[in-house]
Amino acid sequence: MKYLVTGGAGFIGSALCHALMQEPDTELTVVDKLSYAANLASLAAFAGNPRYRFAQADICDGPAMRDLMAVARPDAVFHLAAETHVDRSIDSAAAFIQTNVVGTYQLLEAALQYWTKLPVEEAARFRFVHVSTDEVFGALGAEGQFTEATPYDPSSPYSASKAGSDHIVRAWHRTYGLPVVVSNCSNNYGARQFPEKLIPLTILNALRGAPISVYGKGENVRDWLCVDDHARALIALARMAPAGETYMIGGGAERTNLQVVNTICSLLDARFPERAPHANLIRFVADRPGHDFRYSVNCSKIAHDIGWRPKIAFEAGMEGTVRWYLENEDWWAPLRARAYTGQRLGLSAG
Ligand SMILES: NC(=O)c1ccc[n+]([C@@H]2O[C@H](COP(=O)([O-])OP(=O)(O)OC[C@H]3O[C@@H](n4cnc5c(N)ncnc54)[C@H](O)[C@@H]3O)[C@@H](O)[C@H]2O)c1
Repeated sequence: MKYLVTGGAGFIGSALCHALMQEPDTELTVVDKLSYAANLASLAAFAGNPRYRFAQADICDGPAMRDLMAVARPDAVFHLAAETHVDRSIDSAAAFIQTNVVGTYQLLEAALQYWTKLPVEEAARFRFVHVSTDEVFGALGAEGQFTEATPYDPSSPYSASKAGSDHIVRAWHRTYGLPVVVSNCSNNYGARQFPEKLIPLTILNALRGAPISVYGKGENVRDWLCVDDHARALIALARMAPAGETYMIGGGAERTNLQVVNTICSLLDARFPERAPHANLIRFVADRPGHDFRYSVNCSKIAHDIGWRPKIAFEAGMEGTVRWYLENEDWWAPLRARAYTGQRLGLSAG
């Protein structure tokens, strides 16, 4: 199978590439513009592999995307390239609209041009898997879950730009017949996540004895999924999902932000008892403007239709994640020096 992965040098994209390359017949092309959030070290394992090709390009560059489709000749496109940090979208939304909306449009156009020229059998098998987020549905209260039928109600510039991209992707199916699949996934955790996001930021701050910031009272709830489970779900969707369908993907592990941070602190206490309790480093800081209270995902459709369920329990997955950051300073230390030193982002609307 030949795959094109956009955003493959990012967190979920690189996990997906590792999962895809485990299969000996995979031919993989990665396209990534190498934004601040990318790390080529995440793909270093494939350097020199004749089954792997990397292209540094912007998905907003239509001609470049058309050339790439022609060279890669994918059986499936996994579209993950995006601006992804909510706090950065609050400070400046332009890059989010550009990449997430305009870039998705350019990629769809390139995919459509490529797909319309495929022989009938290959065209029938082709899938454009659009990787989106549960954040497009806005906030839940204490009860209830998002399903594929939940109306869109995004709160942040990030989630609004992802919502826009979801609608555009579905329109390319309904209008032009492009065989798309949309997934709306909950928060991911795991190896190789850029250290501006809650879990890696907490681990790295705790490791150096720096304050651990928790927004508001830490009561906001997310439904955490291990990134390796997400990668498995995306591959299953590319192979089995009917064109035009949407699937929710979630971990079934609802935790408040404070619970997540306390889990990390406990894992570090066990590893470095001389510095315990790491929870002493927790500081409650001003909340994120427009902070959605709770997300929870009902995954019964993907379980029923595709047979996918998360396999990695939250506690085991978090233990593996903390261990990965402890063992891979070579991966994150250059990012901390070059791209992000841990400063607070996303207060400009507050
Ligand atoms: N992280 C999560 O918890 C989560 C949950 C649900 C859905 N998603 C979605 O999954 C996808 C991947 O998320 P992530 O957390 O891995 O993101 P990330 O920020 O770690 O990686 C994004 C990658 O996209 C690349 N990129 C950005 N703009 C680009 C452009 N214009 N052209 C080419 N490449 C570009 C970046 O260089 C980076 O390598 C996103 O679409 C995101 O909305 C993420």
